[in-house]
Amino acid sequence: MFSKETYARRRELLRERVSRGGLILLPGNSEAPRNYPDNGYHFRQDSNFLYFFGIKLPDLVGLLDIDAGEDWLFGDDLSMDDIIWTGPQPTVSDLAARCGVVNTAPLAVLQEKLTLAIRRGRPVHFLPPYRMDNKMKIGKWLGLCPDSIADRISIELAIAVVSLRDKKSDEEIREIEDACEIGYQMHTTAMKMCRPGVRERDIAGEIEGVALKMGEGVSFHSIVTQHGETLHNHSHDGILESGRMLLVDAGAENLMNYCSDFTRTYPVNGKFTSMQRDIYNIVLAANARAFELAKPDMLYRDVHLAAVKVIVEGLISLGIMKGDADEAVAAGAHALFMPHGLGHMMGIDVHDMEDIGEKYVGYDLETERSAQLGVSNLRMARRLQVGMVMTDEPGIYFIPAYIAKWKAENTNTQFINFDKLEPYMNFGGIRIEDDLLITPTGNRILGKRRIPVTVEEIEAFMAGN
Ligand code: GLY
Repeated sequence: MFSKETYARRRELLRERVSRGGLILLPGNSEAPRNYPDNGYHFRQDSNFLYFFGIKLPDLVGLLDIDAGEDWLFGDDLSMDDIIWTGPQPTVSDLAARCGVVNTAPLAVLQEKLTLAIRRGRPVHFLPPYRMDNKMKIGKWLGLCPDSIADRISIELAIAVVSLRDKKSDEEIREIEDACEIGYQMHTTAMKMCRPGVRERDIAGEIEGVALKMGEGVSFHSIVTQHGETLHNHSHDGILESGRMLLVDAGAENLMNYCSDFTRTYPVNGKFTSMQRDIYNIVLAANARAFELAKPDMLYRDVHLAAVKVIVEGLISLGIMKGDADEAVAAGAHALFMPHGLGHMMGIDVHDMEDIGEKYVGYDLETERSAQLGVSNLRMARRLQVGMVMTDEPGIYFIPAYIAKWKAENTNTQFINFDKLEPYMNFGGIRIEDDLLITPTGNRILGKRRIPVTVEEIEAFMAGN
């Protein structure tokens, strides 16, 4: 945990930023059952609860009373029956003291407090719950039908939380760098193992073990696949074949639950073919363009557009696309090859604060989400600020079904040479992803060492295996 002063200060700032007054309800998570109640998934605390209270235990609820300037932690101390199974655990008031909270009470008192607040007409602010049990609990506490909860979330609270969490402090950056080092170990382990005949499953299991050894485990399901053209391919059933490329998109949560997220794509046999090298170097140039441009006050949508222009220019140079690059980007023709945005925020969540909603995290009044092909899928469009942590993850994918659809529907035919795509139908896809911190003068790549990324670095690294 950070110091109790860190959590107390965060809560104080949050109370100050919700001007309507009332109560702020921040439920932690409970255990989530896997196949029967006592056999749960690995426990993951809610990220907003972690940010404001820092405690990684289930069944706790935070409440901030804006008008009284008080913070509360609700939870039930364990009974002897519990302790027989769990061993001795800190009391709720011990836990509260660790994060600078003085007011504690059992969960039953929370219901009384909320019922009284509602009777007095005080606003109770809450964020969108993403787990059904928290939705049910909020419904019960506030007398709301769970189906109506989405319409009752506090937009003011959502914006206030985003305004605090979107800029990372130095102590948070140190934690993210720690998660990046785990990511480095995961990816270099994968590169060392990669050779024909190895199963994708062997690599996925090994790198997820690294994440569990060094931290809290993976920050999302690892993508380890020769079918990189499927953006989130979670199957690990393939056996590596010479001539194909392996795409590994994987990251870790460190012991403080801060995340990393990296992607590398490399030839299974350690040597790029000329076709693979050509496509790879275009993606790498797009990744580099984002690093050149990302700086405070720059719209991330403009960084995305500049990166995809590099992709279009590269594909024009190979004869796959044609016409004017700016016009192709304006028409969204690049989306055939890169049907996703350049990146997302990263922090305590790998897609930071996505539970609160991209509308508040990646967009604001200046940057409404566009319906235009090629930008409609951006998770993050708004202006960058010092302390933001972003992923930079361009890609080129040859998705046979999507290519066939565009061809059949004559989509953007003025920019695509469909006849030149035949040799790429079994190519797969390439994505390259790094994590960056926005600094006063620009940005810097996070992690104390960069995972091998150029063709030469990758070939040299794999030759040393
Ligand atoms: N790297 C996985 C994701 O961004 O969804």
